[in-house]
Amino acid sequence: MSGQGLEGVVAAQTSLSKVMGEEGRLIYAGYEIGDLAEHTSFEEVCHLLWHGDLPTRAELDTMRAALGEARRLDDGVLDVLRLLPRDIHPMAALRTGLSAAGNFDPDAEVDTEEANRRKAVRITGQIAAISAAYERLRKGEEPLAADPASPLAADFLRMLTGRDPGELEARIMDVALILHADHGLNASTFSARVTIATLSDMYSAIVSAIGTLKGPLHGGANQGVMRMLQAIGEADEAAEHVRAALERKERIMGFGHRVYRALDPRAPILHELAEELGEARGDTRWLDIADAVRDAMRQEMDARGKKIYANVDFYSAAVYYTLGIPVDQFTNIFAISRAAGWTANVLEQLADNRLIRPKAEYVGPMDRTVRPLDERA
Ligand code: COA
Repeated sequence: MSGQGLEGVVAAQTSLSKVMGEEGRLIYAGYEIGDLAEHTSFEEVCHLLWHGDLPTRAELDTMRAALGEARRLDDGVLDVLRLLPRDIHPMAALRTGLSAAGNFDPDAEVDTEEANRRKAVRITGQIAAISAAYERLRKGEEPLAADPASPLAADFLRMLTGRDPGELEARIMDVALILHADHGLNASTFSARVTIATLSDMYSAIVSAIGTLKGPLHGGANQGVMRMLQAIGEADEAAEHVRAALERKERIMGFGHRVYRALDPRAPILHELAEELGEARGDTRWLDIADAVRDAMRQEMDARGKKIYANVDFYSAAVYYTLGIPVDQFTNIFAISRAAGWTANVLEQLADNRLIRPKAEYVGPMDRTVRPLDERA
C-alpha cells in the first residue's frame, strides 16, 4: 500500500542522531554510541543533544545542578498523581503527570529560545520524578524528594525503589539512559515534532510523544520481552516457546527493527551490562533465558531465510528486572531517557520550523449524494 508506515521517507533534517541500519551503527552528534556509553554520563549526553557539544567540567556541573532542580515536583503535580487510580499503567500516569506539570511551569507558554531550553531540562527531570512518585503512590507509600546533588540515574533508582542503588547499579542505569536518548525520526520523536511544528507548546509536544512511546510496537516492547521471559521460566523451555509462538504467527518482542538490518549496536552493550549485573548478584537466570531465546530465534529465522536480530529492548528487560524495577515501569525508563532526544528534536524543529502536513491517498467511494434520513435503508 502506498506510503504505509512512511518507510524510507525523509521528513526532517537533524544534527542529533544518525541510525545506520545496514551497518548496525548509531551516532549522536558525531559520536559512536559505544564511545558515549563507555566514556560519558547521561548528563553529558543531555548537554550534547541540547547544545551540540559535550560539556566542559564547569558546563557539566551546571547541567547536573539544573537536572537536579528539575526533579523537584510541585505540590500541585503530586496532588494530581494522588487522585489517579493505583492500577493504571505508569505511562498513563506519566502522560497525565507531565501534562499537569506544564500547568505549573511559568515558562510553559513562553516561546523564547532560553525558555525552551529551560523547559527541555525541566521536562526531562520531571519525567523521572513523576515516574518514581507514581510508583510510590500506587504502593501506598509517600513519594521521596529528589536529591539534586545526585546524578539523575542514581537519584531516579533511589526515588523509585527507596534504597540507594550503589555504584554498579547506578552506572548501569546511567548507561541504559545514554543508549535510549535519541534514535533518528522514531515514532515518538516524530509525534513530538508534528505537535511542536504547529507552534503548540513543548509540554504538549512531549505529552504527544509519551502517548506514542506507550505502544507495544515502540517503547512498550521492553515490557513485552519481560512478560515473555517470565512465561518461559527456564532456559530449556525457550526453543519450544519461540517455535510455538512463531507457528501461531506471533511476533517475538525485542526482535526486529524498522531501520536496523544488522545487529542493533545498543543490544551487545546491554548484554554486557546484564552479564555484569547478573554476576554481581549471583543470578543470571533472566539473561540465560534471554540468551536461549536469542539462539532459538537465530535458528528459526535461519530456517526461514530471514535476518531478524535482537533490538535494544531485548536485553534492557533483563537489566531492568534485575535492578528491581517493576515490569510495567520499563517503558517509563525509556521515556526518561528519550525525553532528552524528544526535547532536543523540539528545539531543532523550532529553530527552522515548517508545519508538518503530509497527504493521504483517498481510496474511498466517490460521487455519492445524500439521501434524506427516512429513505436510508
Ligand atoms: N518476531 C517475528 N517475526 C518478525 C518480528 C518479530 N519480532 N519482527 C519482524 N518479523 C517478521 C515479520 O513478520 C515480517 O515477515 P514477513 O515478511 O514474512 O511478513 C518480516 O519480519 C518483516 O517485518 P516488518 O513487519 O516489515 O517489520 P516492520 O519494520 O514493519 O516492523 C517492528 C518493525 C519493530 C514493529 C517489528 O519488528 C516488531 O513488531 N517487533 C517486535 C516489537 C519490538 O520489539 N519493538 C521494539 C522496536 S525497538
